Amino acid sequence: MTSASHILGEKLGFVKSAQTLRPVLGNGDPIPMFPYSVIEYLMNMDLSGYDVLEFGAGNSTMFWAPRVKSVTSLENDPEWHTTLQAMNLPGAELHLVEKGKMANYATGLGKKFDVISVDCGENRYHPAKASLGMLKEGGFIILDNSEWYPNTSTLLRESGLLQVDFYDFRPCHHYRTATSLFFDRKFAPKPKGQRMPATPIGGREQNPLGWDDPEG
Ligand SMILES: C[S@@+](CC[C@H](N)C(=O)[O-])C[C@H]1O[C@@H](n2cnc3c(N)ncnc32)[C@H](O)[C@@H]1O
Repeated sequence: MTSASHILGEKLGFVKSAQTLRPVLGNGDPIPMFPYSVIEYLMNMDLSGYDVLEFGAGNSTMFWAPRVKSVTSLENDPEWHTTLQAMNLPGAELHLVEKGKMANYATGLGKKFDVISVDCGENRYHPAKASLGMLKEGGFIILDNSEWYPNTSTLLRESGLLQVDFYDFRPCHHYRTATSLFFDRKFAPKPKGQRMPATPIGGREQNPLGWDDPEG
């Protein structure tokens, strides 16, 4: 039988991510530095028509690029910017932005997005506030480490978005964290596969008891 530590350490890639300090699944696929529950939630939605804006680039940019219509990433670390730029990720547009200027820079893009991820290495309140004016109907904002940003969480929640908090382990960190998704009330997710939710990584394929039968 697969143990819980095998699922976390190997299948979800916790060991490989900690060794390389780059978040990846056990199969080597790049993932954001988000709780695993958020990553699986995103992996199992059809995001192919989505325009994504990221405050803070990383392996997340590699995660989004093949899944979405476009990903625009704002980054203030020149080394990360160069590393990601060199990958020529299809559909990804990277912008090197001076620290403290991300909110204004994003507003200046004059574009709206279906998903906005607030996960930058600078103040997150101002990018989150700017995101409210850039979110498309039916979209959502991701606030990473939301437990550390109560003012930012309150701002987003009180703007009328629906807050859902995810708590879990995440790659590269030896403690558990929260990430909150703030959904526009018209959000209507499209499943990527036959089922939503899909079977979790390390989960069981089927309920052997057949208790999902409408005629049962
Ligand atoms: C919390 S990281 C998250 C970046 C991205 N959203 C992700 O999930 O991969 C915030 C900042 O750390 C830097 N960074 C990105 N990936 C990193 C990594 N693997 N290790 C250390 N710093 C990283 C970048 O400057 C980035 O903007």
